[in-house]
Amino acid sequence: MEKRLIYNSGHIYDLQNANDRDDVNFYRSIVKRYGGPVLELACGTGVLSIPIAKDGYDVTGLDLSNDMLLQARNKAEGVSNLQFLNGNMSDFSIGKKFKTIFAAFNSVCHLHSYHEIKGMINCVKKHLSNDGIFVFDCFIPDFNILSRDKNKRYPVFEGNGLSITETNEYDPIEQVNHIKWYHEYGNQKWIEDLDMRMFYPQETQNYLISNGMTIIEKYGNHQFGEFGRQNRLQIYICKKS
Ligand SMILES: C[S@@+](CC[C@H](N)C(=O)[O-])C[C@H]1O[C@@H](n2cnc3c(N)ncnc32)[C@H](O)[C@@H]1O
Repeated sequence: MEKRLIYNSGHIYDLQNANDRDDVNFYRSIVKRYGGPVLELACGTGVLSIPIAKDGYDVTGLDLSNDMLLQARNKAEGVSNLQFLNGNMSDFSIGKKFKTIFAAFNSVCHLHSYHEIKGMINCVKKHLSNDGIFVFDCFIPDFNILSRDKNKRYPVFEGNGLSITETNEYDPIEQVNHIKWYHEYGNQKWIEDLDMRMFYPQETQNYLISNGMTIIEKYGNHQFGEFGRQNRLQIYICKKS
């Protein structure tokens, strides 16, 4: 089957991910609370950046994929307080300070090495104003998923004419879940590799603290639910120490 790079099409990404996102209101209320200017790392097609800009905040979105940014720019036509930049969230320099910086929707799982994670935290610190905050969310690793039979296909998404199923194989040494996404759209079929670094809550918090951040709030879902085993997410709000 044809192989395609992950995030090679903002259009396909949006068919799967642009609607019914409960994190939109979460990040809008975070920005309302802490203020702009706002920087979204790994902004993709602007699912979060665009509504926040439409709320009246000055927003910059940064992403590694030009294909995702193309879709973001098309959707944001006419929104003047929003700019999209191509760049790497673990090594960027924008020459501006922000009150709110965030990385949503498991985007940090694309940073596989400690070097990249540390790079992101250092870049965030350089771009945060003194009273600024950094927020990110990712899944708490789920052993039911990580230990699945690597030969079995599981459903991921069905809708808008797009169907995605997956296989996965977890490497416990790298802490990377090697996922294959099998896409079907019209008469096209293709595979994309999605390699997601797993972040364990204790190590994640240690990474933040040992790199000069103070965690001021933690949540377990996008409804500001408790950080704990009953919820699927780890969400950290941090400031510079
Ligand atoms: C799961 S998507 C999230 C997109 C968007 N934040 C959203 O909520 O829909 C992950 C995004 O991370 C981007 N990405 C992956 N590695 C990156 C890196 N090192 N620096 C910047 N962006 C990166 C991808 O291009 C993709 O757009």
